[in-house]
Parts: sequence; structure tokens; C-alpha cells
Amino acid sequence: MAILNSTETGTLASSGDFHREERTLGSSAVPPSRQKALLLHEKGQRYELSNDYAVPEIQSDEEVLIKVQYIGLNPIDWKSADYGFGIPSFPYIAGRDLVGTIVQCPHPSPNSSVPSPLRQVRVGDVVFTASTDYRDQRKSAFQHFAIASCSNISRVPKSVPRVNVAGIGVAFVAAVLAMGVCFGCDFGTVATRQANSEDDEMGPNLRQILHHDVQPEVLSADVRDECLHGIEEGQEPKKGEWILIWGGSSTTAQIVAQLAKMVGLRVILVVDVGKHGEKLSVGDKGLLVDCHDEDRAVAIVKSVTKGTLRFAVDAVGKSTAQVAQNCLRQNEEDDRSISHLVGLSGLPKETVPGIKHHNVPVKVFHEVPKVGGRIMRWLEGLLKDGMLTLPETDVVVGGIECINKALDTMRRGEVSGKRLVIKV
Ligand SMILES: NC(=O)c1ccc[n+]([C@@H]2O[C@H](COP(=O)([O-])OP(=O)(O)OC[C@H]3O[C@@H](n4cnc5c(N)ncnc54)[C@H](OP(=O)(O)O)[C@@H]3O)[C@@H](O)[C@H]2O)c1
Repeated sequence: MAILNSTETGTLASSGDFHREERTLGSSAVPPSRQKALLLHEKGQRYELSNDYAVPEIQSDEEVLIKVQYIGLNPIDWKSADYGFGIPSFPYIAGRDLVGTIVQCPHPSPNSSVPSPLRQVRVGDVVFTASTDYRDQRKSAFQHFAIASCSNISRVPKSVPRVNVAGIGVAFVAAVLAMGVCFGCDFGTVATRQANSEDDEMGPNLRQILHHDVQPEVLSADVRDECLHGIEEGQEPKKGEWILIWGGSSTTAQIVAQLAKMVGLRVILVVDVGKHGEKLSVGDKGLLVDCHDEDRAVAIVKSVTKGTLRFAVDAVGKSTAQVAQNCLRQNEEDDRSISHLVGLSGLPKETVPGIKHHNVPVKVFHEVPKVGGRIMRWLEGLLKDGMLTLPETDVVVGGIECINKALDTMRRGEVSGKRLVIKV
């Protein structure tokens, strides 16, 4: 397994503001019927290479077929193999983040529900997706060809190397849903630099979309309450308010921090300051706190925020989520000003009065095209305008055969403050 830094290889024909590849399938115009894929046959085993797996097929006019070029690895990729998280059946194809070229694109019907700007994708466009729909293995990343919904893809701007977006899809989706749905932040006030009066160029107001543009029964029962009643109108964070992010060096946390700053919040990142202090920026009014002495970290956060902290995200696990909870204001008297804690990787066992727990309702990204479409359209604009700092990326060369070894380095905690990306 060879690891390179993140410079792009191969020649690309670019047109307009976005990467394109003119010859997507070499001399052939049609995709092959068989491909290489990595299969998990049982929980606790390693992923096994199949050289003869069926290429997935488009099933609706809202889907495209992508020839995968880079795969971004997420912690869930080794956790699902080890613990069986999010595996509907075996053999299972994992992998959530990918970049590649569109090789097949149906003609959408006039009454397609996909937001119109995203229907403009064409064969040859270089796109990336966050495959959050783990039940649909046609969309998984650990294979040479994958399906994606049009509402779940962004084109890759010319100004950004393809490899650098390979590891941000899932992290961005989780971050924007945590901030926009669980905390109710309105990104409609955040314009990309080329913004004009068109809605699409502004950030989404996800709470408004979910409340007003989507029938409640469209939302899956297990996320409906979070989507519609996660936070009441008027409770969202106000400009200048603090947000605490525990595990602030993770990719998702870094995106949460950037989104929080875009809506005017002051950010506290709890991290290993010795490892990450030099690189991480919290802005003029933010604060970096070391994670090693948790009691001391809580005391610092409480003192700096004068006991008024209402918003926290934990990006590590149950036990640090409990510590993050201890930093929050606990106002039992006033229901209208409760505090909110998002656990990306688990929440404290017990709830306490005055603090509400939130899980990120990730499935609205793929189940509600209007939500997914607005998120990916905005992300495309943010990238094009250089408004998002992307995680540092290490590229692993050697194809999907190298994924097991790359995941081992993540299991051992050796990948710190960066993303691993596989070159297919
Ligand atoms: N619910 C969802 O939909 C969703 C979506 C995305 C991610 N997640 C979860 O969110 C978590 C973060 O994901 P990611 O992809 O952003 O992770 P990542 O980029 O791989 O980063 C993990 C980071 O956590 C830091 N960390 C570990 N233990 C810590 C501690 N005790 N205190 C402070 N920092 C600590 C590590 O820092 P060091 O380098 O200093 O060790 C590392 O930088 C994962 O558990 C993932 O499964 C959930």
C-alpha cells in the first residue's frame, strides 16, 4: 500500500467551471456488465475482492451511473465490518464517499422531482456523492461503478482537485444537517460569492424546507420528530452565541465549525492541542481547548461562556458526549431556552432536564430530493468559490484491493486530522 500526498494524476479535459472527462469508457460507449467490487461476507471478517460482480443498473430517471476514480474512507467503513453497523444483508458492499465520472445518464421525465439545476449533469461530468443510503448497495463506493441520485451529487469545480473532495461528502452532509435541522440554523443568509437573487445560490434553510415544502408523511417515522420538532422556531443559535465541538479535529467537526462561523457563531473546539493546535483555526473570537484533562476543559468552557452555552456537538463518542453535556447550560425552568446536544457517534445514556439530545437525521439527504439537492447545490457553490477549507488528504494508490490495509491504519488510530482516499 503506497500513500502519496494529494496531487492529482491523469489528464482531464475541463469545460466551463467544472471538471469533465470526454472519453469516460475508453473506446467503448457502453459500461461493462461485470466489475471489481469488495464484499463483506460476514461481520468481523475482512472485505474480499470479487473480480466478477455485476455492474449496478440505473433504476429511475433520477439516477446516474458513475465510474469511480477515488474513494474517501470514513470511520463507519471499518466499524460496520467489525461491529455490523448499518449492514442490511450479506454479502455487503460498503463505502460511502466517492468521486468519479458520469458514464450513463437517463433523460429525465418532465415531472421528475429532482431540482432542475442538477438535471443538467451530463455524461463526462466529474462528480462526487455521499452515499448515505446504505440499504441500496448499488450506491456503495467500494466498487468500480456506482449509482447515485442526481439530488445527491455535486460537480467538482476546476479549482479543486478531484481527490480533495473524495473525503468530504458524508462529513458535509452530517455537518449541515446537524446545524441546519437539529439546531435550526438558516444558511439562507450565507451567499456563495456568485450569488444573485436565485435561491439556489444561497445556503438552504433546511428547517423551512422540511416544514413547508415536504409532506410530513414523506419523512421516515424514525426521523420525523427530529425534522419537525427538533428545535422550535426562535430557539436557534443567535449571532455571537457559542457552540462547543468536542473532537474538533475530525473532518465532520471541522465542517461544523466552518458552517457555524458562516452563520456568525463563536466556536470552541476541544482537541488534542499538542497535535492539532498549529493547524486548526477558530477565528478571532473562537477558542481552542485541550482535551486531555476533561474536568479542566469543562471548567474552561463554562468560565469562558459564563455558563450560557446552549449548543454542543460531540464527534467522538458516548463518553465525551457526556462531558460535552456537562458544559451546557441546564435551564429547567424555561422550556423556551433549553440547550441542545448533537451526538455524531453516540449520546449520554441519561437525558437531563433542560438539555435536549439530537441524532442527525441523515436519511433525509437521500429520501427527500429537495433536501439533498439543495445541500449538494450549495456545496458545489461553496467549493467553486473557495469558501470551504477541505481536510488534508492522503492518497492510497493500488485500487480497491488496498482498502483493508488502509482501514487497518484507521482502526489503529493512526489517521489523525486527515482523510484517507483510495485511488481506484
Ligand atoms: N451520525 C452520522 O451520520 C455521522 C456522520 C459522520 C460521522 N459520524 C461519526 O462522527 C465521528 C467523526 O467522524 P469523522 O469522519 O469526522 O472522523 P475523522 O475525520 O476520522 O476524525 C476522528 C477524530 O477524532 C479525534 N478524537 C478521537 N478521540 C478523541 C477525544 N477523546 N478527544 C478529542 N478528539 C478525539 C481524533 O483526533 P486525534 O487525531 O487527536 O486522535 C480524530 O482526528 C465518527 O465516530 C463517525 O462515525 C457520524
